[in-house]
Amino acid sequence: MTELLIRGGLVFGPDGPLEADVLVTDGVITRVDARGSTTTGETVIDARGMYVMPGAIDVHVHSRDPGFPEKEDFGTLTAAAALGGVTTVLDMPNTVPAVDAAGVLESKAALARPKARVDFGLWGLIRFSSSEDQLEELAAAGAVGFKAYLGYGFSTSRKQVLQSVDADDPDLEAPPDYGTLARLAPAIARLGLPLVIHAEDPAILSAFRRPLETYADLLESRPAEAEAVAISAAAAIARESGVSLHVAHLSSALGLRAAQDAMRSGARLTLETCPAYLWLSDQDFPRLGTSMKVFPPIRTAADRDALVKAAANGVIRIVATDHAPHTDEEKSRPFGEAPSGSPGVQTLYLSCLELAKRLGDVSLAPRWVSEGPAALAGLGQDKGAVATGFDGDLVIVDPLRKTQVRPALMRSRQRHSDLDGQEFGFVIRDVFLRGRPIVRDGKLTGRASGRMVRPARLKS
Ligand code: NCD
Ligand code: ZN
Repeated sequence: MTELLIRGGLVFGPDGPLEADVLVTDGVITRVDARGSTTTGETVIDARGMYVMPGAIDVHVHSRDPGFPEKEDFGTLTAAAALGGVTTVLDMPNTVPAVDAAGVLESKAALARPKARVDFGLWGLIRFSSSEDQLEELAAAGAVGFKAYLGYGFSTSRKQVLQSVDADDPDLEAPPDYGTLARLAPAIARLGLPLVIHAEDPAILSAFRRPLETYADLLESRPAEAEAVAISAAAAIARESGVSLHVAHLSSALGLRAAQDAMRSGARLTLETCPAYLWLSDQDFPRLGTSMKVFPPIRTAADRDALVKAAANGVIRIVATDHAPHTDEEKSRPFGEAPSGSPGVQTLYLSCLELAKRLGDVSLAPRWVSEGPAALAGLGQDKGAVATGFDGDLVIVDPLRKTQVRPALMRSRQRHSDLDGQEFGFVIRDVFLRGRPIVRDGKLTGRASGRMVRPARLKS
């Protein structure tokens, strides 16, 4: 039996903060109770003056593994995650080969396991040609749900999802469209797994396509209407089929309004936004350059403020990073050619803690990064709370020291960040994965001991 006792911290449990000791026995939390009343465990951690919070679950990361080792791999991804207090990552399926079938998912899991410093789950891919059988097999292999990249084609020879549909590829399969979603939604609903969309309507994007020289060109080429239309259309399909629809990286006030209308009309909908959309606006482009080129784009201060308000009042329940590393060389290409995406997993918790503090309620942070994500991913039985019976995935946060985001701190293979220069009034001190230390005093420790998580199916 191994025991970990975290003594004297301010524990952020499901009912709010409470001064308590936390005992973890063989990886599972066995007691959360008033200070001093617990007997000594094998390992005792002094957490006086610290916050004890649930490990974050980042539902939207791109490990790039297998496929693009120059950008990232499971080892570097999960090192950055661990240092940031992220104890579970859910990896997107646009690796190579793309995760469109059970066999690919199984090989990816086998490759990730020995490198993973945190637990991980894998999303399956929806292709234009995906069949119900393929999705059922992916579910049986452990997929946490399915992702449809509207407008992103699939190269059948390269086994790759193309970032922008490449007309020169003779083996390009049509991107999944609303027909694909309508065709597969009933099966996904039966499987009890979420359907995730990259919500930008391809017809609107193609109507506004233009050369990208300035940041204004980017905003005009990917207007908020594209997000709102994709959400409304997918939500209509979700409502009819009963599938649980998850909107990845919500970026606009207009998209938010479409989502709220859909929720009111009875669609099962969850919303995710990312720290970049909560912290930044187009005004930051002169300072940050292509480092903040992401799809959908970071928009105006009014969009940012609407998203912050929705996160504060619980309409948006999930903050994830869309950690999407590209190399410095790629990101330093001219604006139009630089790939979209930016790393972020290491700063998820810190940025959310700071935002939550400014909103006057620090406990919003664990709700956004742990409780909401656990429910989405079907992990709510085991993860997402500091409470008896839950995995001992715990983060000890020092609320009196500061972290300034800078390249030297980053452990992703890519050290740039769109939050570069930001100062957060917290330090992630220690991190435990199922009761075992993976970070002590801000430094990685121990071996890669991450496991693949499997979702409990959603109830209809
Ligand atoms: C992501 C990537 O690079 O894989 N890029 C991005 O700009 N968000 C893809 C995605 O999530 O859309
Ligand atoms: Zn996306």
